[in-house]
Order: sequence, then structure tokens, then C-alpha cells
Amino acid sequence: MSYQIAIDGPAGAGKSTIAKIVAAKKGFIYVDTGAMYRAMAVHMIRTDTDPKDEKAVDSSSQTADISLKYVEGAQHVFLNGEDVTGYLRTEETGNMASLVSKYPSVRSRLVALQKEIALTNDIVMDGRDIGTVVLPDADVKIYLTASSKVRAQRRYDELVTKGQDADINKIEEDIIARDHQDMTREVSPLKKADDAIEIDSSYMTIDEVADRILSLIK
Ligand code: DC
Repeated sequence: MSYQIAIDGPAGAGKSTIAKIVAAKKGFIYVDTGAMYRAMAVHMIRTDTDPKDEKAVDSSSQTADISLKYVEGAQHVFLNGEDVTGYLRTEETGNMASLVSKYPSVRSRLVALQKEIALTNDIVMDGRDIGTVVLPDADVKIYLTASSKVRAQRRYDELVTKGQDADINKIEEDIIARDHQDMTREVSPLKKADDAIEIDSSYMTIDEVADRILSLIK
């Protein structure tokens, strides 16, 4: 049996940063499931699919073949044979991913792929429904949160560091809207699994959060 660590939580709580550290320390594979939904979003943008039209999304998703490869430990996401990893982290892609991830046709294919990867690898997997749907029997389940103010501040700092313009109030509004969308959808909404341990990272350092999770691994 593989060892499975599930980390769920809202956008900007620090899931991927923490998951990468934990995976590196344990020699596990890190699976960023948000990147798979983002690759699906890139496909929807490229095929000019209206995210409000479920039938159109269903049919477009049929022509998206998404797979993962690991290059020197880093996850690369392939869409129909093309490495789209570099296109995934834009606001447009994130918003489109949040919109189309509510449809069962999109979720079922990606969840099947995620379960398959987890079967044969020791993993740290992060997302929204990992502890509740994808890996209900995970060895360790974490629900990582932070206040919307703190998450907006982190995103603002990140953009400013990159030399980009940013409006912190708009960032916080977007974060709150995305939380609402992810938490209120009908299929696999973001929620804490009953047996998950909640960690509020608002006033913790990255190392403190990673150490807390590492201390839970037996
Ligand atoms: O974690 P992220 O910001 O890269 O995820 C982008 C969107 O994908 C997120 O708003 C909701 C969706 N998502 C999902 O529905 N289920 C997951 N397991 C991961 C992401």
C-alpha cells in the first residue's frame, strides 16, 4: 500500500508550498490536482468554450487528454501531448478552472487519474476534494486555511515582488468569490473531511506548518 497525505483548503492558503516541502522531506511525489483543472481550463479557453454552458464543456472535455510527468521531481502537466505547465498560473486560467471544475464530466476523468497515481506512489496530493472524495482513506488528512486578508496580502506581495501592479482589495474580493464558488458547488465542494486536521496558517511560518504536518506522519 502506498502512503497518502491529503491536503485540502481554499486558494492561497499555501497548500502547494507546504505540500512540496513535505513531499521533498519524505521522498514522496507531490501531486498538484489544481494544475490538472487548470490544464482543463486552458483547453476550454483554447476551444473558446463558454464555461456557463455545461453541454459545451462536457463535449469539449472529451477532447482533452491530460497527463502528468515528473521531470527531476517537478510535476509537468500535458494537454494533448503538449507541456502546458507554463500556462497554468494566470488569474484567467484559475478563474476558468474554478468555473468548469463544478461539472461532473470534468471531475470524473481527473479524479480517476488522481486515484490511479495514488495507487502506486507514496504521495502528497493537494486540492479541494482529496480527503473527501479522491483519497477517503488517506493516512494523513489536512485542511489548511488562512484568513482572506492574509491570503490577499500574500498574493499581493508575490505580484509586487514580480514587479506587477496589484490592487489588494480586488485580490481579496476575487479570493472571496472563488472560495464561495468552490465551497457551494453541488459536486465535491471544498469542505473539511470529518477526520481531517485543520491548520490555520494565517500567523504561522511555512516551516511551522510543514513541521506540524511532518509530525503527524507515522
Ligand atoms: O488550487 P488551484 O487554485 O490551482 O485550483 C484551481 C481551481 O481548480 C480551483 O478554484 C477549484 C478547482 N479544483 C477542484 O475543483 N478540485 C481540486 N482537487 C483542485 C482544484
